[in-house]
Amino acid sequence: MKLLVIGSGGREHAIAKKLLESSQVEQVFVAPGNDGMTLDGLKLVNIGISEHSALIDFVKENDIAWSFIGPDDALAAGIVDDFNAAGLKAFGPSKLAAELEWSKDFAKEIMVKYGVPTAAYGTFSDFDQAKAYIEEQGAPIVVKADGLALGKGVVVAETMDQAVEAAREMLLDNKFGNSGARVVIEEFLDGEEFSLFAFANGDQYYIMPTAQDHKRAYDGDKGPNTGGMGAYAPVPHLPQSVIDQSVDSIVKPVLEGMIKEGRPYLGILYCGLILTADGPKVIEFNARFGDPETQIILPRLTSDFAQNISDILDKKTPSLVWREDGVTLGVVVASNGYPLDYEKGVPLPEKTEGDIITYYAGAKFDENGQVLLSNGGRVYMLVTTADTVQAAQEKIYDQLAKQDTQGLFYRKDIGSKASR
Ligand code: AMP
Ligand code: GLY
Repeated sequence: MKLLVIGSGGREHAIAKKLLESSQVEQVFVAPGNDGMTLDGLKLVNIGISEHSALIDFVKENDIAWSFIGPDDALAAGIVDDFNAAGLKAFGPSKLAAELEWSKDFAKEIMVKYGVPTAAYGTFSDFDQAKAYIEEQGAPIVVKADGLALGKGVVVAETMDQAVEAAREMLLDNKFGNSGARVVIEEFLDGEEFSLFAFANGDQYYIMPTAQDHKRAYDGDKGPNTGGMGAYAPVPHLPQSVIDQSVDSIVKPVLEGMIKEGRPYLGILYCGLILTADGPKVIEFNARFGDPETQIILPRLTSDFAQNISDILDKKTPSLVWREDGVTLGVVVASNGYPLDYEKGVPLPEKTEGDIITYYAGAKFDENGQVLLSNGGRVYMLVTTADTVQAAQEKIYDQLAKQDTQGLFYRKDIGSKASR
């Protein structure tokens, strides 16, 4: 069978590479993808993620069995609805189901209605009312743009002034355009953050290993928020009882609630959680795989991923098999300056062989098609599996020390909280 993955980052590289491992899969296309993916035998398709009708034509002409949708903006634009209307199968939620991600206010309404634990909140489009709420609640407090904002629409304010300023930028200065025309202001939750991913179709769900991302740009969780600078899975110090509690109090009621709302959920449900003194609570839902979490979760899957997704699409029970041993850890290499302005065009080190995987994100061949150059904020990621977090760190950081990373940077402490 032939498959199509939509998106262009490290997440899509990991999805496509895992699909291609299946003996049933002849070819995996990625639209638009990035040049680094071709080193793994993936085929790029020069069509943008918003060109739904061109993508649909491509799928029909090339006899693609189904498509896997990577990014949130494609889901929010209703790509799955358009594919389905054209009689094509796509793995990802409909626009209405993906609202769990593209409107934080909608996600909150669902959580309140179905009793899912989350921070207390208020939603505002009027600045004076937002300010009054902040003054009534006090700091610390969290201000969030309602819509999609490339992971940058959340301000964890330590003081009331910071919170009021964040609300002002979103509501009065239009910092995030329409995405910030409403804000969700919520209680600050204290505790350890982790991510729980599930494959879902209706009330069917299959939990993946837990993961922990590192969102800040620099060591010691300093610097601006990014898309994610490195991650590992599973989180060794999370007891199974916390995972079970998260499934029972969060995953199950949300999926059942979405059916009752007439918005059955198909795809990946990504729960961003904080383990508080009162148990796990939701800080956000995403309607897709995480980046960089996918790159450290999927290498742990030992079953036939293409068959697993075909089965979930057909509402059959997939035989998902995960590695039980060791930890998978990955470090993102980014362009100097990311997440703000950065330079492009730096020559990249050779792709690694053996037990360290290189996943590419912002990577592009030079004009002769010979040398791979940096072409984005996050450029590539090295991933390995070892017995312990510490052993995995050593392997990755030894490899990075051998690479010429001029013009690029990476965090030196991915996984350090867990290895202590
Ligand atoms: P998000 O974009 O929703 O993932 O939020 C970005 C980051 O803000 C999260 O990874 C958390 O570290 C932090 N955050 C979001 N909501 C809260 C909250 N209610 N309490 C504490 N931290 C939060
Ligand atoms: N790694 C965070 C995200 O994908 O949203």
